[in-house]
Amino acid sequence: MKPTCACQASRQIPSPPPALAEILNRYAPQKREYLIPILQETQGCFKYLSREAMIHIAHHVGVPVSKVYGVATFYNQFKLVAPGQHTILVCRGTACHVRGSDQLLRAFESELGIQAGQTTKDGLITLDVVACLGSCSIAPVITIDGKFHGRLETKDAARLVAEIRKGAGK
Ligand code: FES
Repeated sequence: MKPTCACQASRQIPSPPPALAEILNRYAPQKREYLIPILQETQGCFKYLSREAMIHIAHHVGVPVSKVYGVATFYNQFKLVAPGQHTILVCRGTACHVRGSDQLLRAFESELGIQAGQTTKDGLITLDVVACLGSCSIAPVITIDGKFHGRLETKDAARLVAEIRKGAGK
């Protein structure tokens, strides 16, 4: 196997964790075209792309780690930090926008003390935005861990966050 850069030639990396090894084994090594599918599967498995995972992926695909990092940061779908235990997704599609999703998002940001794309300091809740969730008839819509909540008003943000915290005993 021909190293692609000096840092890879000189560095021995430990074996990947079993779940990642299983993903990598499904893809032939040294094939750059597998980079994005591997990143997608890895994120699907671990919920985000850790630095360690990106090093293993770079080694497997045969590209510098900087290339993997560059691809992972280019596409919105990839997350480089671990998500919280619970995820709130606020829809920002057109129907939801028209019915106040901006104000709703601001209400969640205020309630959680974070911005969209961030996770609360206690690691409990990640807040993010998404394009149309496919339930425009009940706009504005959010999902909490995949469960839909529609026709929301800004005052609902505090109640929903309280329910998550209560369920987590916080
Ligand atoms: S625009 Fe929000 S569900 Fe369609």
